[in-house]
Amino acid sequence: MDLTHRPRRLRQDGVRGLVSETGLESTDLIAPVFVDATTDERQPIESMPGHERVPLEDAVSRVEDVLETGVEAVMLFGIPESKDPEGTRAWAEDGVIQKATRQITAETDAYVVTDVCLCEYTDHGHCGTLEDGLDAHDEATTTVDNDATLESLERIAVSHAAAGADMVAPSGMMDGMVGAIRSALDREGYDHVPIMSYAAKYESAFYGPFRDAADGAPSFGDRRHYQMDPANRREAVREVALDVEQGADVLMVKPALPYLDIVADVRREFDHPVAAYNVSGEYAMLHAAAEKGWLELEGVALESLLSIKRAGADLILTYFAEDVADALE
Ligand code: PBG
Repeated sequence: MDLTHRPRRLRQDGVRGLVSETGLESTDLIAPVFVDATTDERQPIESMPGHERVPLEDAVSRVEDVLETGVEAVMLFGIPESKDPEGTRAWAEDGVIQKATRQITAETDAYVVTDVCLCEYTDHGHCGTLEDGLDAHDEATTTVDNDATLESLERIAVSHAAAGADMVAPSGMMDGMVGAIRSALDREGYDHVPIMSYAAKYESAFYGPFRDAADGAPSFGDRRHYQMDPANRREAVREVALDVEQGADVLMVKPALPYLDIVADVRREFDHPVAAYNVSGEYAMLHAAAEKGWLELEGVALESLLSIKRAGADLILTYFAEDVADALE
């Protein structure tokens, strides 16, 4: 055979690594951590093997375990001691995230990102204040009052920054949330705190295990009136552009694996760092298949995260963070 081009030449040992286009490092990863104010014992999360809700007194040791693997950043989610229609515990000075953040930043070197949302804090489980006249038992279709919710999100972000959060990550998909949070942070003296916006967040069935973990499932209706329609691709670029205009520092796409086209689009259209959230359902399905002996877990986890980077993500939020960091060591 007279072949000029033999791509296999570069797949040999010794040269493979030199020509590889994408790398995965533990410093690309953010590990989600659940802190639960309702318990004083660690609670395993059944649909997310290896993950637990930890009580406040274990928050620091939980984060120390993450740091030991080489992962340097955590994303904190809170389960409050009580819920109400407005989600007021989300911005309480003695709230679960505020306390955890103060402890973790005082006692560890972790880079602390906080999820800024209301669904774990409202008794109806929606990501904001309901429109007038609705309550937790309504079967309404339009649900969350966008502009009223912005005020709550501002309070939450400022309370997290005051507790020492290094970065805030609004995930509620309210219009104008990034701009509102940016001006509130600046006004209160936190202009150094970056915003990682859940910029293109889809109304996804892959969040199921998380909603068990964080106890944030809506008690009625769904999130399709604020989260994006999985059918839409071009809309993602418009959504993300709005967050860029409003001052987002990092642009997140969520979920990750079923939305790699969106990750690639955002990478191509914007110069900002791009984050992707490898969500709870993406984690749960690989674990379930591995448990049956149908997939080899470490291999599929590494390949999944590499593919998210290849699509264009700079950083990845993933429940695999610690295991993958260990495997990379
Ligand atoms: C909202 C929030 C959700 C997730 C992260 N932040 C749930 C939702 O929108 O229903 C999902 C993360 C995952 O599935 O891993 N606070």
